[in-house]
Amino acid sequence: MHSIVSKIVDAFEQRGSGKYGEECVTQLQHALQSGQFAIRAQADTTLITAALLHDIGHIIGDDDMPVHCDENLDDHHESKGYEFLIEHFGRPVAEPVRLHVVAKRYLCTTNPAYENQLSPTSLKSFHDQGGTMSTEEIQQFENEDFYQDALRLRHWDDAAKDPEAKTPSITDFIPYLQASLIENSCE
Ligand SMILES: [Fe+2]
Repeated sequence: MHSIVSKIVDAFEQRGSGKYGEECVTQLQHALQSGQFAIRAQADTTLITAALLHDIGHIIGDDDMPVHCDENLDDHHESKGYEFLIEHFGRPVAEPVRLHVVAKRYLCTTNPAYENQLSPTSLKSFHDQGGTMSTEEIQQFENEDFYQDALRLRHWDDAAKDPEAKTPSITDFIPYLQASLIENSCE
């Protein structure tokens, strides 16, 4: 197994049991459910990997995810995730991860009904992360190469909060991770 893949599996095994903010699922359950939605949607392997790893920025490094809604929930985890992933997985994985936060702002701006179905935590982070987009920001987002993938990922992210869901295990995702590595990715 590639060293980055074992590092990811270790991170989930060691830190994945932490709560996903104030939601009723753990970090690991949330990641596995997102990845499972991508599999069910027959997404490309790289997008399945992105869905699984979209919040990896919360569990790598030493900082804990902000948990309480009275904190500022904008912790830039999407940028940490991007930095962690780009070298080994390239843009098809790292870009939807980078864009998944701004994708929520886009969905809430272009479809106000989307905001009504967000969980209280997700609604709070939406405002902390900048809230409604300007026309320029919408244009800028639609100019991103991977914005459609980021929107698909965002829908899975927002649905992946079911404490009762049955999912594959993290090790079941290893083949997707391995197959998403860029060629000649250094160990
Ligand atoms: Fe998420």
